[in-house]
Amino acid sequence: MTGHAEPIHGIVVLTGAGISAESGVPTFRASDGLWCGHRVEEVATPEGYAANPALVQDFYNQRRRQLAEVRPNAAHVALAELAARWEGDFLLVTQNVDDLHDRAHAEIPPGAGFELIHMHGELLKARCTRSGVVMDWFGDMAADEASPHHPQGRMRPHIVWFGEMPLAMERIEAALAACDLFVSIGTSGAVYPAAGFVQLARYAGARTVEINLEPTQGARLFDEGVYGPATEAVPAFFRDLQT
Ligand code: OAD
Repeated sequence: MTGHAEPIHGIVVLTGAGISAESGVPTFRASDGLWCGHRVEEVATPEGYAANPALVQDFYNQRRRQLAEVRPNAAHVALAELAARWEGDFLLVTQNVDDLHDRAHAEIPPGAGFELIHMHGELLKARCTRSGVVMDWFGDMAADEASPHHPQGRMRPHIVWFGEMPLAMERIEAALAACDLFVSIGTSGAVYPAAGFVQLARYAGARTVEINLEPTQGARLFDEGVYGPATEAVPAFFRDLQT
């Protein structure tokens, strides 16, 4: 490698469904084009929710219940261990709505320079449709779940649906502009804006690495590729990274 001999201070890691796959959470882009038996438009758009709130709530109720059956794997733990020992800045951006990163970091408390952003929302949070207030939510949500925050409001999953704006984009872009290392783990790179993060990191002069089961459609945008199951490839990659 040339051009990346500088010491690393700022790290940005982007994760996708592939990091949770070995925990038993299904990925999105299965060969049948369906998401757990549903068309994406039905369950992951504001229009789908408006047309059939019962179906949409039931879909996310099932996903939320499934969280009780899965645990963080060695890849989540490796990132939590890195966050505990890393003295520079470390922003972990996940597209996943599960809480497996959160649980890994709860067991291994991170250092001061660490931050976790769920850019596509979280299954264990709900949002008021009128006030926008977000609150923790651990059980099922009814089709017409009343909001405690607004008399005409309803509670909906705090999930970024297609056509909605991902969360905390300014913060993420600022970290990408300042990072020295960008690692994309277990994401197909099919959904923007996350798929464009590698370009922003490259403009910043960062070393860019893709970790995946196989090269993705954007693999050529990365300086390096590490290919194998996340539970093996992620711990191995970060073990060698010097603080
Ligand atoms: P995808 O399902 O599109 O891609 C999963 C990626 O993980 C693929 O590139 C697989 O090769 C890789 N993969 C699978 N198993 C793996 C393993 N054990 N180890 C390493 N890699 C593995 O999921 P995402 O890229 O996360 O958005 O999808 C992005 C967004 O599209 C999601 O956040 C979701 C979806 O629509 C919203 O819900 C808003």
